[in-house]
Amino acid sequence: MQKRCELILAIETSCDETSAAVVANGQEIVSNIVSSQVDLHRKFGGVVPEIASRKHLELINPVISEALDGAQVLLNDVSAVAVTLGPGLVGALLIGVSTAKALAYAKNLPLVGINHLEGHIFANFLEHKNLKPPFVCLIVSGGHTSLVFVKDLGDYEVLGETLDDAAGEAFDKIAGFLGLGYPGGPIIDNLAKEGNAQAVSFPRAMIHTKNFDFSLSGLKTAVLNYVAHLKNENKQFNMADLCASFQAAIIDVLVSKSVRAAKEKGVDKLVLAGGVAANSGLRDQFKDICQKEKLRLYYPSAALCTDNAAMIGCAGYYRFKIGERLSLDSYPDPNLKLNGK
Ligand code: KG4
Ligand code: ZN
Repeated sequence: MQKRCELILAIETSCDETSAAVVANGQEIVSNIVSSQVDLHRKFGGVVPEIASRKHLELINPVISEALDGAQVLLNDVSAVAVTLGPGLVGALLIGVSTAKALAYAKNLPLVGINHLEGHIFANFLEHKNLKPPFVCLIVSGGHTSLVFVKDLGDYEVLGETLDDAAGEAFDKIAGFLGLGYPGGPIIDNLAKEGNAQAVSFPRAMIHTKNFDFSLSGLKTAVLNYVAHLKNENKQFNMADLCASFQAAIIDVLVSKSVRAAKEKGVDKLVLAGGVAANSGLRDQFKDICQKEKLRLYYPSAALCTDNAAMIGCAGYYRFKIGERLSLDSYPDPNLKLNGK
């Protein structure tokens, strides 16, 4: 391919997906390879950090080669390398960051470090070319649940976060407890479609608090207690109804606080990001309320909601163009914050 545009080679290894992508001009996905380790972690019911790091090490070079081959480019055609710097599992991040540093050094390429959560936000720009800040973004993933006021590109105010479990973590833990499999989000999403969301009334913790924080661990306990109580009494329960009721309790809180945040910040755009943003019930409820409240709703396609390197390439292009560079003696930061705060 001729150097008609600026290509970013992006690398993402923050959790259990080894991913590399080539993104053109921060907008067009030329290739996006995601190698999921989910089958490896399934039997443990969650990601085992040490296994994830070892697998990243095995996969990182083949995945990068596949991304370059898929884009029909060589490393020499690339303008910069972007890599997830954090937050995430430190051992997993180290593999991506060390590889990116080695490539940048060997080819004398600029290197850019990206916040994983910023990547999730930027996934939206890959598919919604007209989307521009300011907007409120709900980031819901396996590791994070945050409401962010995106004032401008790269200018974030974190309005609230989960005080305990992340939304995806709640899905995964409840699915594990119910013996449904891993990862739990997509399984519960599918079962919930067949169930009655009003069947069991689970708590909507902190739904009426003035702040924008969340608490989801009490809901998990409520589901555990509900099932234990029925089992004690030798009573059956309907799995689809249980999943629908659990999911509805999470969604109600996420939707209510997001809409209030948009109103409080005076914006008319609500943006969803992260793996849980793939949830069909969540999307439907956001669609309904956004229509009523005259808010414009944006979310990425399911493949760009979950972890992928294309979103890092999109954010990487922006950071590259404003002149940010990651020095070769940098380390990943497992607790990296948006805006550094
Ligand atoms: O963004 P992501 O790939 O990784 C992190 O940054 O954490 O999110 C993974 C999470 C998992 O907890 C998974 O169960 C959840 O996203 N997830 C879903 C759905 N698809 C993935 N949760 C609910 N409904 C879904 N359809
Ligand atoms: Zn993620």
